Amino acid sequence: MSSEYPELIWLDGKLIPWADANVHVLTHSLHYGLGVFEGIRAYKCENGKTAVLLLKEHVERLINSCHIAGINLPYSNKEICDAIKLLLTENSLDEAYIRPLDFIGDGTMGIHPKENPIRLTIAAWPWGAYLGDDGLDKGIKAKISSYTRMGVNSFMTKAKICGNYVNSIQAKIEATSMGFDEALLLDSEGYLAEGTGENIFMVRDGKLKTPPLTSILEGFTRNCILRLAKDNNISVEQQRFTRDELYIADEVFLTGTAAEITPVREIDLRKIGTGKPGKITKKLQETYFNIIRGKNEKYAEWLDYL
Ligand SMILES: Cc1ncc(COP(=O)(O)O)c(C=O)c1O
Repeated sequence: MSSEYPELIWLDGKLIPWADANVHVLTHSLHYGLGVFEGIRAYKCENGKTAVLLLKEHVERLINSCHIAGINLPYSNKEICDAIKLLLTENSLDEAYIRPLDFIGDGTMGIHPKENPIRLTIAAWPWGAYLGDDGLDKGIKAKISSYTRMGVNSFMTKAKICGNYVNSIQAKIEATSMGFDEALLLDSEGYLAEGTGENIFMVRDGKLKTPPLTSILEGFTRNCILRLAKDNNISVEQQRFTRDELYIADEVFLTGTAAEITPVREIDLRKIGTGKPGKITKKLQETYFNIIRGKNEKYAEWLDYL
């Protein structure tokens, strides 16, 4: 394993060497995709300490994803939060992307997981801007995917279920192989849903618009933007919109723990607004980055210090 990775991984209650964190090839989740995961970030703050962003909330979503998936996770929120903090401390990570993954181990084969063990692993490693530093700064190029987000009775949209991401992977590969940075997926009725791992916002005439929660993941970064918009008197509508409305938006941006606040400068080869990150996007981005670096006391409750 590459030396750029940290020393330890948490697996089933223990910290073990990164290279030893392996599973059997008959691991049930590998075959059928039933497992759930989270994406969390820890940042080094202005005061020199490390804080995990919305830690309890992310762990609660992991527990909820398990509940939706019908998996009995044998750990409490506190036990998982403590494990994450221990992992960061023992690996001396002052800044990290954190990936808890709850999966079904090997035992019986076949669709029904029966009594196969429920396992939990947590990895953490340094990870820069998900869509690139340039993307954060200048904006990315996106494509409306030819893949549709699956219908809400097939795809449990409120859960980060591993198998859900096959749809995202197909869309991402298609878009990037055509020279775009990210794919935007429409729902089964043709309205904007979300990116492959991000929520979407558009700005028109000074107002924000984002799809309602009907067919999307309830993103925490989306929630942060809703709160920041309210606190800054920017009006927000949670309403469906179409791809052509997006083409004539003044600004578009994506939100996600990994992607943070990433401006979109072009969609389907059409310039968005001026083709540069707009004023509202930049203001929200700057406010968000100040908060996660511990520079804004008003939102101190979003941060959980090690
Ligand atoms: C499909 C999807 N939508 C939206 C998001 C954004 O969610 P969050 O802001 O909680 O990271 C993610 C990332 O977790 C995602 O995978």
